[in-house]
Amino acid sequence: MTASNKPDRSVIITGGNAGLGYECARAIASSGKEYRVIIACRDAAKADDAVKKLKSETGNDGIFRMELDLASLASVRNFAKDFLKSGRPPLRALVCNAGLQVVNGTAYTSDGFEMTFGVNHLGHFLLAHLLLKQMPGPGRIIFVSSGTHDPEKVTGMPDPVYVNARALASPARDSSGESDALIGRRRYSTSKLCNIYCAYEFADRIKKETEKNIAVNAFDPGLMPGTGLARQAGPVAFFIWKYIMPVMTLLPINANTPGKSGRALAALATDALYDDATGKYFEGTKEIKSSKLSYSKENALDLWDTSVELVKLAEDETVLSV
Ligand SMILES: NC(=O)c1ccc[n+]([C@@H]2O[C@H](COP(=O)([O-])OP(=O)(O)OC[C@H]3O[C@@H](n4cnc5c(N)ncnc54)[C@H](OP(=O)(O)O)[C@@H]3O)[C@@H](O)[C@H]2O)c1
Repeated sequence: MTASNKPDRSVIITGGNAGLGYECARAIASSGKEYRVIIACRDAAKADDAVKKLKSETGNDGIFRMELDLASLASVRNFAKDFLKSGRPPLRALVCNAGLQVVNGTAYTSDGFEMTFGVNHLGHFLLAHLLLKQMPGPGRIIFVSSGTHDPEKVTGMPDPVYVNARALASPARDSSGESDALIGRRRYSTSKLCNIYCAYEFADRIKKETEKNIAVNAFDPGLMPGTGLARQAGPVAFFIWKYIMPVMTLLPINANTPGKSGRALAALATDALYDDATGKYFEGTKEIKSSKLSYSKENALDLWDTSVELVKLAEDETVLSV
């Protein structure tokens, strides 16, 4: 805290109006007033409600919302410009949390990319570049991934399939006869693999190419039944997800309440305990190995180079080489 008793650093949480992002915002706002907490959300009304609730639950007035739709690269660019103009305290942490699963057919972002890849990966990829420029350091960037990226974990989700990033951005028409749900879930687990490639690549490049003290890690919150993630499942499946599956958080498996995972995510973003961690994968607060495939440098480079092209990243939008 500064001598004037004002917050002296900012933290941005994408999708902070609901689920894990909300709980992360709540944990950071409850921990003290040195952080200005900004939830970056696509729906202004939902975001206003969340800010109001967060303020009343934490007694912290330093919580704000800013508009961000990760399904629009123009919105991502506007967000970064608005943050620069806002005069908020320096950015200390960016939590790339927002995410979705599309299980009822293929949807596209406003730039024409497959929605799951576009929102879960591409939007955050651009956002991280633009905000990294604005982070003086020390700082942290966290990509929220998922155990579903790892075929060796029993998650009930299809294994990710990474052929190349272009195919993920613009998938060919499917002729396999697989259901929309299966295809959509596979796109989701693959996008969560992309989050890890992205975290490892940012961490490496920041270390090699800059003097900035900025750590980048990937995070698995574990299964958190009850959040909005399964909102596209049919009414029966969503009822089970929301009201019955939360009992799984009582079992000794990697299933948690959003509150517990939100606190773990907040710790990774702000706790001095993690000062030395970069380029790592955390299951909750525990550092573990991610899947074998997630260490493929070939895939990571393909994803990086293609993403640079797809978002049309300009040299003056990043401090890293493109
Ligand atoms: N739930 C789980 O079991 C689980 C397990 C592992 C990992 N995760 C990961 O945890 C993260 C949070 O998920 P959750 O479970 O908390 O789900 P959630 O309750 O549905 O929250 C997702 C958040 O992302 C936002 N979002 C979606 N599309 C967006 C867009 N185009 N632009 C900006 N924000 C957007 C949503 O905004 P709206 O409210 O406006 O839709 C919402 O705030 C995701 O990255 C997910 O992959 C979840």
